[in-house]
Amino acid sequence: MPETVRIESLDHEGRGIAHRSDGKTLFIEGAITGELVQYSSYRKKDSYENANLVRVVGASPLRVTPRCTNFGVCGGCSLQHIDPVGQVAAKQRILEDNLAHLGKVRADYWLPPIHGPAWGYRTRARLSVRLVEKKGGVLVGFHERRNSFIADMISCETLPPRISQLIQPLRELVGRMTIRAQVPQIEVVATEAVDALVLRHMAPLTEADLQLLREFADRYTVQWWLQSKGPDSITAFYPSDAPELAYTLPEFDLVMPFRPSEFTQINTAVNPVLIRRALQLLQPQRSDRIADLFCGLGNFTLPIARSAQSVVGVEGSAELVGRARQNAARNGLDNTRFETANLFEATAASLTALGHFDKMLIDPPRDGASAVVQALGKDAPQRIVYVSCNPATLARDAAVLVHEKGYRLRTAGIANMFPQTAHVESVALFERA
Ligand SMILES: C[S@@+](CC[C@H](N)C(=O)[O-])C[C@H]1O[C@@H](n2cnc3c(N)ncnc32)[C@H](O)[C@@H]1O
Repeated sequence: MPETVRIESLDHEGRGIAHRSDGKTLFIEGAITGELVQYSSYRKKDSYENANLVRVVGASPLRVTPRCTNFGVCGGCSLQHIDPVGQVAAKQRILEDNLAHLGKVRADYWLPPIHGPAWGYRTRARLSVRLVEKKGGVLVGFHERRNSFIADMISCETLPPRISQLIQPLRELVGRMTIRAQVPQIEVVATEAVDALVLRHMAPLTEADLQLLREFADRYTVQWWLQSKGPDSITAFYPSDAPELAYTLPEFDLVMPFRPSEFTQINTAVNPVLIRRALQLLQPQRSDRIADLFCGLGNFTLPIARSAQSVVGVEGSAELVGRARQNAARNGLDNTRFETANLFEATAASLTALGHFDKMLIDPPRDGASAVVQALGKDAPQRIVYVSCNPATLARDAAVLVHEKGYRLRTAGIANMFPQTAHVESVALFERA
C-alpha cells in the first residue's frame, strides 16, 4: 500500500512539497497544497525524492481538469491543474515564503495581485522544430518535460488562438521545404498590427522554399523574417511592406517599435498594468532624477519620463540601448539618457558616475541585481521599485537592502504574467528610513 502524504506548499516549479514519515522531502508533480496524495518516486536522493502523482486521496477545491491535451507531457505549462485564481494565490504565497525564509524580510503590507487573461496571453514564443520521421513528419512546439524531445502538439492554449492555429500549418509548411531537416526553430511575435515569424535555418533556402514562405505569409497574413546565424542576422523577408513590429502604451501615449531579436514583455495585457503599478509605487515627480536599471528598450523608462524631471536608463545590450534611444526620440521625449553597462559588475564608483538619483527602478533578469544592491552607498535613492521575475533572487537582494542598506520593505505583490506556468513575476517597494 503506497504511503499517503499531505502537500504543504508548492515549490518554484509548481510541484507539491510534502514530508514523509521518515523526514524525507518529496517534490510531487501535479499535487496541490492541502491535498492528500499517493505518489511514485522517479528520482531518489539522500535528502529528497522527486515523484509523480499516482492518486489524489483528498482533492483540493482548486483542482480543475487541465484544458490542454498536452498537459503533463509538454514542458510549457505546469499549473493547468490549478484554478487560475488558485494559481495567483499560490504565487503570492511563494513570494511571501521566499521573502520570509531566504530574505528574512516581511512587507509592511501586501499588494493585491495583478491578474490578466488566463489563456491566449503569450505574444512571443520560441517554437522548436524537428523532423521526426517516425512521427510522420515535422514537429513544431515546446520541449517535453524533463527531456529534449519536442511535444507532438497541434495547438497551444497559452498562445493567442490565431497563433495557436498556425502550429499545424507550420508543421506542414516545413515538411514541404527542401531544407526541412535544417530548420531548428520558429520564433513567433504577435503584435497589434502584424504577426511575425522568424525562421531559423541552418542551410540556404532554395527559391522553392522561399516561394512556400511567401504563399504561407499571404494565406495566413503573417510576416516572415529569416535568421541564418545569430540574432544579428535576423532580416525581414516578406512581405516587405508589412507594418513595423511595435506595442503601444496608450496611458502614456507611447508607441514602442522593436525587432524580433529584442527583449519585450510577452504578456502585453499585464505589461501596462505592471507599469502603472510600478509608477504608482515610484511616484515620479517633476523634480525627480530617476534611474531605470536593466531598462531594455525603455519599457519603464519612457513612461517614467512622462512625469519625471529626467530618467537615466542603463542596460547591458547595446542593441536595446540603441532601440531605447530611438524610441525616446520617436515619442518626443528629450529628458532621457541611456547607457550601456554590465550591471552584474556594478560598483559604488560606477553607480556614483551615473549621478545622483532620487528614485530607482530595477528590473533585472532571473539572476537578480546583487552587484547593484551591494554597490548602493550613502547617496542611494530614497525609493527603489524592484520588478522581479525570480522571487529567490528578489529575496536575496531584499535581504541586502533591508539588513545592510537601511531600507524598509514597504510592500510587494505578484503579477500573473505567465498563467498556467510556475513563473512568478513580482514588484516590491523599498524605502530608506
Ligand atoms: C527582465 S528584462 C527587463 C527589460 C525592461 N525593463 C523591460 O521591461 O522590457 C531584463 C533586462 O536586463 C538586461 N540585462 C541582462 N543582463 C544584464 C547585465 N549583466 N547588465 C545589464 N543589463 C542586463 C537584458 O538585456 C534585459 O533587457
